[in-house]
Amino acid sequence: MTPLKNDTFLRALLKQPVDYTPVWMMRQAGRYLPEYRATRARAGNFMGLCTSPAYATEVTLQPLERYPLDAAILFSDILTVPDAMGLGLYFAEGEGPKFERPLRDEAAIRALAVPHVEDKLKYVFDAVASIRQALDGRVPLIGFSGSPFTLACYMIEGGGSSDFRHVKAMMYGRPELLHHILETNARTVTDYLNAQIEAGAQAVQIFDTWGGVLTPGAYREFSLAYMQKIVAGLKREHEGRRVPVILFTKGGGQWLEAMAETGADALGLDWTTDIGDARRRVGDKVALQGNLDPNVLFGSPEGIEREAGRVLEAYGTGSGHVFNLGHGISQFVDPAHAGVLIDAVHRLSRPLHA
Ligand code: CP3
Repeated sequence: MTPLKNDTFLRALLKQPVDYTPVWMMRQAGRYLPEYRATRARAGNFMGLCTSPAYATEVTLQPLERYPLDAAILFSDILTVPDAMGLGLYFAEGEGPKFERPLRDEAAIRALAVPHVEDKLKYVFDAVASIRQALDGRVPLIGFSGSPFTLACYMIEGGGSSDFRHVKAMMYGRPELLHHILETNARTVTDYLNAQIEAGAQAVQIFDTWGGVLTPGAYREFSLAYMQKIVAGLKREHEGRRVPVILFTKGGGQWLEAMAETGADALGLDWTTDIGDARRRVGDKVALQGNLDPNVLFGSPEGIEREAGRVLEAYGTGSGHVFNLGHGISQFVDPAHAGVLIDAVHRLSRPLHA
């Protein structure tokens, strides 16, 4: 494998000195890019992109051709994991993801088992290997998975939800069933992320998109505890380098101290927490990733630079910050505005690392 030409992202995650603050954007490969929409049309649909290593490689690299990003993220989806468990994932046009067989009765839940990921999700590991080859050492490649709780939300609700009533009915009525799902998910995700690392992922992020809908006690019991099991089971060294782990709980700003105790290298933050306060709270334990409100990208170029500067200033001097949005980039953003952001982060952060 070619040695990395730009390892700024990996160094920042490990709080090692850097020349500038590295930046990538959640959902950086996606519908706001016309070239993504063109490739998706050729592939037929979204899952056609995910299951073809050639297409997945093409769309992963698209944002890197446009912008000087400091990391690439595997093009895939968190819901390929429950699909591999037999739930039957499909994307209804304009409606988001859905499952043909959501987990609604005890028999289905008891029958849930850890799949053989090396077979069932081979297309993902093939994509990772193909992307690494195409990157040729330009920047590191991030692998990812959903958290056990976030996956369970989709598996039980059968798709997106605004109230999570089926998950919460189970949590408060039959908690042992939810624990069985979460335990199965945690073991599957551990295997899945380790296989991504073996295939060439140089850092991994766990997306806990829905942990923030829980009470503090339920967050620890039903989300954090299972992410901690995963972190404990991951391969942390590969190709002679540490493989950093990033935990991102959307809406998890009040639990950063507990998240920092899991052994993760870095925590992702949404935009509702001040990143300077977060840094004071977690101290030297972890690096931080975030946390621009993604809607800033709808403002003017001047507004984007000003708000990016505010996040950089709030974090302050020294390493340990990976700049990102607080959640995924919207499909309605002007691609030129993403370019303004990335250039501003690079330019404005240099004095903070002098
Ligand atoms: O960041 C990247 O560029 C990598 C690709 C990536 C996708 N999904 C591609 C995608 C990643 C990291 C994800 C993670 C994901 N998927 C999460 C966690 C992160 C988050 O946003 O909170 C979740 C909850 C999902 C589930 C999911 N997939 C939903 C709810 C949807 C529909 C809503 C939407 O934004 O379209 C998807 C589809 C999806 N995943 C798209 C992309 C580019 C859009 C599909 C399309 O082209 O129509």
